[in-house]
Amino acid sequence: MKSRITFTLAALMLLSACAGPSGNRYFFPGEIWPDNNHVHINAHGGGFLYDKGVYYWFGEHKTEGENGNLANVGVHCYSSRDLYNWTDEGIVLAVMPPSSGSDIEAGCILERPKVIKNGKTGKYVMWFHLEPKGKGYKGALSGVAISDNVTGPYTYIKAVRPNAGHYPVNVLDIHKGDSPALHLSFDGGSLPANADTLNILGRDMKSGQMARDMTLFVDDDGKAYHIYASEENSTLHIAELSDDYLSHTGKYGRFFVGRFMEAPAMFKREGKYYLMMSGCTGWRPNQARSAVSDNIFGEWKELGDPCIGDTTQTTFHSQSTYILPVQGKPDTYIYIGDRWNPQNAIDGRYVWLPITFEGDRFTIRWNDKWKIEE
Ligand code: GAL
Repeated sequence: MKSRITFTLAALMLLSACAGPSGNRYFFPGEIWPDNNHVHINAHGGGFLYDKGVYYWFGEHKTEGENGNLANVGVHCYSSRDLYNWTDEGIVLAVMPPSSGSDIEAGCILERPKVIKNGKTGKYVMWFHLEPKGKGYKGALSGVAISDNVTGPYTYIKAVRPNAGHYPVNVLDIHKGDSPALHLSFDGGSLPANADTLNILGRDMKSGQMARDMTLFVDDDGKAYHIYASEENSTLHIAELSDDYLSHTGKYGRFFVGRFMEAPAMFKREGKYYLMMSGCTGWRPNQARSAVSDNIFGEWKELGDPCIGDTTQTTFHSQSTYILPVQGKPDTYIYIGDRWNPQNAIDGRYVWLPITFEGDRFTIRWNDKWKIEE
C-alpha cells in the first residue's frame, strides 16, 4: 500500500514538474493565459529574449478599461524555460509619477517594448515606441532604457526621432528637393496611400524620422537594427543601431513605400530575412503582410498574407508583435500576435501559432490547442 502511495505521489510530482509552475502544457491561442500566480499574463505588444537557458517576455502592462491602453504602470516581464509556463518577474521599467514632467510619466503611451542583449557591453537594452502624455500619437518617438540585469530595473535614457540629419541609403532625388513642408498628422486611422509623392522623409530629415510601431533584430554578426513604421506610418524604416545599441548610426533604408504597414516582426532563416507586418487600422485587426530579402537593406519582396485558412482576413483576429525562434529546435518558429481589447485593455489576449515553410514563403495556420513537441 505504502509503495503504491509513494508511486502515485511521485507520478503526480513528475506530472506537475512536466507541466511547469502554472500547469500549462499547451498553447491555447486567444484564451486567458495564467502565469505562476494564476493571473492572466500582462505583457502586450511583446518582445522576447533568450538568455542563459531562459526565455524572457517583455510587454506593455495594461490596466482595466479604455484608459488602460495608456502606460499607467510600465513594462512587465515574465520568464519561462518551456514557453508554456511563465513566472512573473514584475515591472522592469516603471513609468514615473503623473505630473513629474518625465518623458515616461504615467499616462504616456509606451508601446511594443523590445529588449536585446549587447554581447560587447553585457548590458540589456530596451527600445520602445513612446508618445508623450496627452499628445495622442503625434510625438512618434523611440525611447531607450538600459539595465545590467535582464529583469531590470531598466533606467530610462532618452527618446528620439531616429537618424536626424541623415538621408537613407536608398534616398530619392525628390527627398532632397525643396518640397514645401507638409502639415500631415496621424492620430489613428490611415492616410491616403500616396506617400511617395509627399516627401515626408525630406520634411523630417533635419529633425529625425517619425518612429511608431517597432521591433528590434540582432543579426548573426551582433549588429542590431531598429525597424519602425515611419513617415506618418506610410513607410517602414530599417535602421542600424550603434555598437552599444543605444543610438542610431545614420545608416537606414526605407521600404514598402506608401504601404502603411505596422507591427513589424523580423526573423532570419537559412540566410534570408523575413518580415511580418500588419496593415494600419489601429486596434482593429487586419490582413497580415509578409516579405523576404537576401539582405537586411533590401531588396525586399512582398510575399502576401502568410495566414492560411484565415477566412476573416484578420490575421486570425490578431496583430503581429514577434516571431520567436525556438531554441534547440532547428526550423521551429512561433508567430506571436496580440488580440487587442481596446475597451478593456487588460483583457487583451495572445495568439501564438506555429510557422511552417513553403519554399521561400512562411505560412501560419490556426490551432485551438497545440504544443511545439507535436
Ligand atoms: C496599432 C498599433 C498598436 C497601437 C494601436 C493604437 O495599429 O499596432 O501598437 O499603437 O495601433 O491605435
